[in-house]
Amino acid sequence: LRGESHPEINPKTTISHIAIYGAGIMGSGIVQVAAQSGYQVTLWDVTQANIDSGIHAIRTSLSKIARKTGQPADWVQSILTRISSTTDQLAACASADLVIEAVVENLSIKQDLLSHLDTVAKPTCIFATNTSSLLVADVAAKLNDERRQRTVALHFFNPVAVMKLVEIAYMDGTDPALLALLKAWVLDIGKVPVLCRDTPGFIVNRLLVPYNIEARQLVERGDATIEDVDTAMKLGAGYPMGPFELMDMTGLDTGYHIMKAWYGAAPGLAKDPRFKPSPEMEQMISSGYLGRKSGRGYYVYD
Ligand code: 3HC
Repeated sequence: LRGESHPEINPKTTISHIAIYGAGIMGSGIVQVAAQSGYQVTLWDVTQANIDSGIHAIRTSLSKIARKTGQPADWVQSILTRISSTTDQLAACASADLVIEAVVENLSIKQDLLSHLDTVAKPTCIFATNTSSLLVADVAAKLNDERRQRTVALHFFNPVAVMKLVEIAYMDGTDPALLALLKAWVLDIGKVPVLCRDTPGFIVNRLLVPYNIEARQLVERGDATIEDVDTAMKLGAGYPMGPFELMDMTGLDTGYHIMKAWYGAAPGLAKDPRFKPSPEMEQMISSGYLGRKSGRGYYVYD
C-alpha cells in the first residue's frame, strides 16, 4: 500500500487550512507553494520582522514565476490573499488541518513547539516536521499517542519553489491511509513524493551530507581548490551546483547542525568521526560565514 498512488483521493476535502511555523527560507517556500496550489495558509514566526522578510521572499519568487509564465497582473496578489500571518503561536493552528514546522533545527525547540500546539490543534490535525536530520520519533516524543500517530516528516528542498521533491518519512505504525492522503497532497502542490522510513537524513541528506563532508575534506587536505571541486562536480558529474555552491545556498549552519546532531546521538551514526565538524568549519560558523544569507560562505556575495 505504501508504494501505491491514489488518484481517487482529493486532498482538498480533508486539508483546507495549513499552518506553517517558521518564516525562514524553507518555511516561506512551503507557504508559497501551498498558497499557489489553492490552500489557505497561516504563517507564524516569533517576530513580525521575520514574517515580513518571509512574505517579501514569497512576493519576489512569485513575481519571478509570474514574469516567466506570463500570468495576469493580479496573479501574485491573488495568491498572497490566501496567506495570513501571526506571531500568536496557538492562534495560528487553531483551525488548521495540517501543521508543518520549519523552525530552527533544534530538537527541544521543535518538541516544545509541537507539544504546545497539540493543546489547541483539532484532534484530526496532521503534524509534520520539515527536519533535515532529526528523527520524526524524536520530534514527536512529547506528543500524546493519538497525535504521534498523525505525525510525519514532510521534507522539502531548497529552493522550494523550484525543487520538485518532497520526502515523506513515516514511523512504524503510521496509518497507510495518512500516507496516501499526504502523497495526494504533495502531488496536488505540484511536487513528487517519495516515502522513507524514519531514519537519519531520510534519503537525500543521508547521501548529500557525507558527499559535502568529503568535498570539504578534499579542500582542507589541500588536494584541490573549492572552485575546482565545484567545477568538477558540475561538469564531470552533471550536478547543477558544486558542493560548495550548494552548501552556501543551503547555509553552512544547516550542515553544521546536522553533523553535530548525527555525531552526538543519531542511531548508527553517533561518534562516527566523519560527522565531527572540523576546526575549519567551526571557525567559519563562529565567524558568521554562513553562506549566501550572510553574504559570505565559501564564496563572497554582494
Ligand atoms: N523562485 C522561483 N523561481 C526560481 C527560484 C525561486 N526562488 N530560484 C530559481 N528559480 C527559477 C529561475 O527563474 C529559473 O527559471 P527558468 O529556467 O525558467 O528561467 C530556474 O529556476 C533556474 O534558476 P536560475 O537560472 O537562476 O539558476 P540555475 O539554472 O542555476 O538553477 C537552481 C538554480 C534551481 C537552484 C539549480 O542550481 C539547482 O537545482 N541547484 C541544486 C539545488 C539543490 O540541490 N537543492 C537541494 C539542497 S538540499 C536541501 O534543501 C535539504 C535541506 O534539508 C538541507
